[in-house]
Amino acid sequence: MVGKGAMHFALRRSKFNKGHAAIIGAMRKPPSASAAARTAAPAKPSARGGKVNKAWLHDHINDPYVKLATREGYRARAAYKLKEIDEAFGLVRPGQVIVDLGCAPGAWSQYLRRRLAPGGAAAGALEGKIIGLDLLPMEAIEGVDFIMGDFREQETLAALEHSLGGLQADLVVSDMAPNLSGISSADAARVEHLVELAIEFAQNHMKNQGALVAKVFHGGSYDAVVAHFKNAFQTVKPYKPKASRDRSSETFLVGMHLR
Ligand SMILES: C[S@@+](CC[C@H](N)C(=O)[O-])C[C@H]1O[C@@H](n2cnc3c(N)ncnc32)[C@H](O)[C@@H]1O
Repeated sequence: MVGKGAMHFALRRSKFNKGHAAIIGAMRKPPSASAAARTAAPAKPSARGGKVNKAWLHDHINDPYVKLATREGYRARAAYKLKEIDEAFGLVRPGQVIVDLGCAPGAWSQYLRRRLAPGGAAAGALEGKIIGLDLLPMEAIEGVDFIMGDFREQETLAALEHSLGGLQADLVVSDMAPNLSGISSADAARVEHLVELAIEFAQNHMKNQGALVAKVFHGGSYDAVVAHFKNAFQTVKPYKPKASRDRSSETFLVGMHLR
């Protein structure tokens, strides 16, 4: 069995891995309409036969948040998770600098963009700055800078630092979820590692009075991740939005005021 220390060594931010180019959004060609339509749905559970898919499809079609997202022009129902968290903690305000880690397909960035716009507009003037980052391409969102790259890699961090241009973030949100291998110790280490990197990023690039929202999962590394949050922040609150499905072990940690 691979020890936790060794796992972290294997996962830690690599300076020399050129596997994913970090590209500022302006240089990226938007995906086709059909690709955008594909990204509008959250990830399906792995197929274990027709019944699972049918059940998932039935739930998805009848999900009130899916209907609301379609009506309100959000790319994914995930927008309502961040909306609830924002409404509970009062995190987003016009004029802020916000970093959205794991932003594709873009629902959180869309929500943030509307919150920073006069009158909540999806286009036009924007008060503040939003930088989104993801491994996957994302269809452009007006006013949102996009970086494509692996957050664990040094070159992606450099691109993010370049995009910040010396500014410190007011808010960092992370909905990043690693691809799961099915090996629970390895998966737990991957989740923990992404959260640790998000905390480290906040410590280096966020104002002291800022906040970090990160998706975490019950079980596995949950206690360790809470401990990392408590080491870094004066106030740490777990929050499970109603829009997060009951059957999902995902929840969110909100860290406020860096130590
Ligand atoms: C649940 S989705 C995010 C949904 C997004 N918040 C929205 O509202 O549309 C998780 C995202 O995290 C991204 N991700 C996972 N690991 C990552 C990494 N190491 N670096 C960058 N992005 C990552 C995935 O590519 C995926 O798009």
